[in-house]
Amino acid sequence: MTATQRLLDINRVRELFDLRGSLMDRTGGSYEDDPYPVWAELRERAPVHKGTLHQLTGIDDPFAFQGLPESGRPHFSVFTHAACNAAYRDNTLFASSPQAVDFDSAPAVVNSMLSMGGEQHRRYRALVQPSFVPQQAQWWVRHSIQETVDTLIEYILQQGQGRAELNVDFCAAIPVLTITGAFGIAVDRALDVRAALHDPPALLEIIAPIVAARRENPGDDLISVLVRAELSEEDGTRHRLSDAEIYSFALLLLAAGSGTTWKQMGIALTALLQRPAVLDAVRADRALLGPAIEESLRWMPTDPMFSRWVTRDTDFFGTHLPRGSVVHLCVGPANRDPARWERPDEFDIHRAPRASLAFGGGPHICLGMHVARAEMMTGIGALLDRLPALRLDPGAPPPRYIGFYERGATEIPIEFG
Ligand code: HEM
Repeated sequence: MTATQRLLDINRVRELFDLRGSLMDRTGGSYEDDPYPVWAELRERAPVHKGTLHQLTGIDDPFAFQGLPESGRPHFSVFTHAACNAAYRDNTLFASSPQAVDFDSAPAVVNSMLSMGGEQHRRYRALVQPSFVPQQAQWWVRHSIQETVDTLIEYILQQGQGRAELNVDFCAAIPVLTITGAFGIAVDRALDVRAALHDPPALLEIIAPIVAARRENPGDDLISVLVRAELSEEDGTRHRLSDAEIYSFALLLLAAGSGTTWKQMGIALTALLQRPAVLDAVRADRALLGPAIEESLRWMPTDPMFSRWVTRDTDFFGTHLPRGSVVHLCVGPANRDPARWERPDEFDIHRAPRASLAFGGGPHICLGMHVARAEMMTGIGALLDRLPALRLDPGAPPPRYIGFYERGATEIPIEFG
């Protein structure tokens, strides 16, 4: 038994990643429909519409997270690939946040590079970019992904009944253990991190001692990268990051990288399991696994929308956007734009490679995209290797896609005997 196996409590995983609970909270989890037909009509009518993505989709759920509407500001939603792509690439006109980052306030995701623009964003991002380039993906696999995946598969095999559930018992724990492992947080504390995800003070109680320890004694982990990093100011002076800057960055990585990769891996697996011939093709030719994961990202990105703030009056793809308005960049509908992809509603792993907007675009394109890909490749690849007879359990309710933000699958029941 490996250290990870001894320490990872699968019952706690089930408690913490309760599918309906997590979907219900802020992410529009009560949404059970397929939004793509409505989005297709909207996209056909115009590239840009007045209103939030929620309103335009016809959702009237007072408890659902409404995608950052700010009362008092006009809202617009962008539906085509060309318009979303143009907005992503112009981070001066379409800013990531309405205000400057404030490192003197409490550490928070909004006080990280996610909210920065221009030169400041470039300088902060450059500090960590080397840890996230494609050539570093194997570091992440060695450091935490492979052992986590192996541990979870052992659990599945040990259950011994030839049946399992993959969304919570497999996909959910991989991303959080990947990031906590990269921070150098012990496996037995990793699930405490997940439990405290929406409670920054509790999370900082775990992270602060680690930052202090790495300042004393840096090692081969991401917190040590941040502790050692030197930021160059515009006047040429250099300084180390403050604790508050490191905490906000750690919160960003935990928030940005856990739920997203969990849900996306579940979407990719479900898409394959529901198409046995495609699953067989991937099993027979492992070079098709990468394209299958890319197609899942295009076809159903777990987060269908990101917000931007308009910094000056502009005419954009036929619509006037006043300064100060909020724009919803709807990557879900943009990823099925027939102007870019033929038969866009079809899940087709044999498409010629064309970048989608699932990871965003422009200067804020997902920092962790190669890590996310490595997690999905390692996870799904290991399932194909270790459970060669893997298929959906015909005796259990089939998985469905639910949720609006952090859209994902319900339970994924499989048999493999
Ligand atoms: C399949 C899983 C993932 C998806 C679909 C996803 C998607 C995205 C998108 C669309 C953005 C751009 C947001 C915007 O433009 O406002 C973003 C940013 C970001 N993501 Fe991911 N992400 C995933 C996994 C990860 C992972 C695993 C990590 C970390 C290990 C991560 C870290 C980040 C960070 C730090 C940013 C902010 C980058 C910046 O502001 O420059 N993401 N992600």
